[in-house]
Amino acid sequence: MTRFTTRRSSLPKWAAGCVAVAIAAGACDLRPAPGFARGELIFDTCSPCHGKDGAGDESLGAPALAGAMDTYLTAQLERFQAGVRGYHYQDAEGLRMRPMSRALITDDGDVESIVEFLMSLPIVDPPATLAAGDAEAGEEDYTLLCANCHGIDGRGVDNVPDAPSLLHLNDWYIASSLRKYRDGVRGASPGDASGTTMRNAMTSDWTDDRIDDVTAFIMTLRRLPRRIPGPPPEPLPPVDVDPSILPEGVTVAMVQEGQDIFNTPTGICYTCHLRAGVGGALAPNLTDEVWLNIDGEYESIVEIIISGVPQPVEHPGFMAPRAGMPLTDEQVRAVAAYVYTLSR
Ligand code: HEC
Ligand code: HEC
Ligand code: HEC
Repeated sequence: MTRFTTRRSSLPKWAAGCVAVAIAAGACDLRPAPGFARGELIFDTCSPCHGKDGAGDESLGAPALAGAMDTYLTAQLERFQAGVRGYHYQDAEGLRMRPMSRALITDDGDVESIVEFLMSLPIVDPPATLAAGDAEAGEEDYTLLCANCHGIDGRGVDNVPDAPSLLHLNDWYIASSLRKYRDGVRGASPGDASGTTMRNAMTSDWTDDRIDDVTAFIMTLRRLPRRIPGPPPEPLPPVDVDPSILPEGVTVAMVQEGQDIFNTPTGICYTCHLRAGVGGALAPNLTDEVWLNIDGEYESIVEIIISGVPQPVEHPGFMAPRAGMPLTDEQVRAVAAYVYTLSR
């Protein structure tokens, strides 16, 4: 009762007229129009867990939100709303957050309003809290296995737009998220493309110690300001390939489909081999005539995509069967057709 009174009396002036209308008409949104002011009002319902400055609260498992990128915040709120995140019975924190996301009314612009407000909060330098973890031991893992997507500076990269910045995150949250990805408690819902991308990196052979080490290394990264994302990469032009060079049974339409699979979250090939297969620290260049594991003929490409490369010849990571994606045999043949043309 007391609570109700306080709430009523704290209603701002703009709402007063609305109350009368609401009683008469039975419907009236008492909140400001979508935008910053509405976001600020909504934040009152988030700050009890995420903190007044958005810096997170360890006792509730609620991570820092100040410093996150807008595209990532929006995507995660939508995943909680849809139950793609916070779905697993062992995910106590995700299950705590999920109903909060449901209170946001998407059609009323609540998500864009709260995200606009959150973007105004300055990054709070997260203190290191974990006693465990050896940053030096985690450096190599980070540089070889994480930097491709999260950036060598931890701020994300334009090439993989759904991989978030990590600089604002609390260490206890980084470590707990990595365990969740490893154990399928986060990122394993059917159709969760970005979760699958991350789960591919956090395979079941990661021990808790190794997770603590990489987390400790992330905490040593310099606290740079938030990255301003560049424009998303230009779409690749339609494939232009001479049909006479294609092996039997392969069509130009398959090559085109393969280009789409390779360079998008459908296939996630681009996250390691980079866009159009030019190669990087994690995976080889596929546009030259050098082949490390196969002879480069069409069927050998199909086979290696199906089997993956558990023990790479030169590269530090590995390639899961079908890159860990639910690719059908037809999609594999299409993406192999694309790879076949890259060096020819
Ligand atoms: C009851 C406590 C609670 C409240 C209230 C709450 N959250 Fe959360 N939120 C959490 C917890 C716990 C997590 C961590 C989930 C996990 O570990 O996967 C979380 C995670 C998130 C994430 C994901 C962050 C990331 O880095 O992936 C976002 C975004 C978020 N909350 C936004 C909000 C917003 C916006 C509100 C207010 C509308 C809100 N939360 C209210 C507890 C809460
Ligand atoms: C192939 C690209 C890729 C690689 C490699 C990768 N990540 Fe990720 N990471 C992502 C994506 C995409 C997400 C968002 C996943 C989601 O929506 O749940 C993510 C999410 C995360 C999160 C959760 C952030 C948050 O706010 O909740 C952490 C922590 C993280 N990654 C750390 C790492 C570490 C450490 C490594 C190296 C061991 C790594 N990632 C390797 C793409 C990648
Ligand atoms: C997690 C990173 C990763 C992803 C994602 C990935 N690859 Fe790979 N790929 C590798 C590694 C590592 C190798 C082996 C390199 C070595 O032997 O040193 C490899 C090898 C290959 C090869 C053989 C190259 C050679 O010279 O022997 C082909 C072909 C290939 N990948 C195609 C793909 C396709 C198509 C996709 C998407 C469906 C994909 N890869 C996704 C990491 C990846």
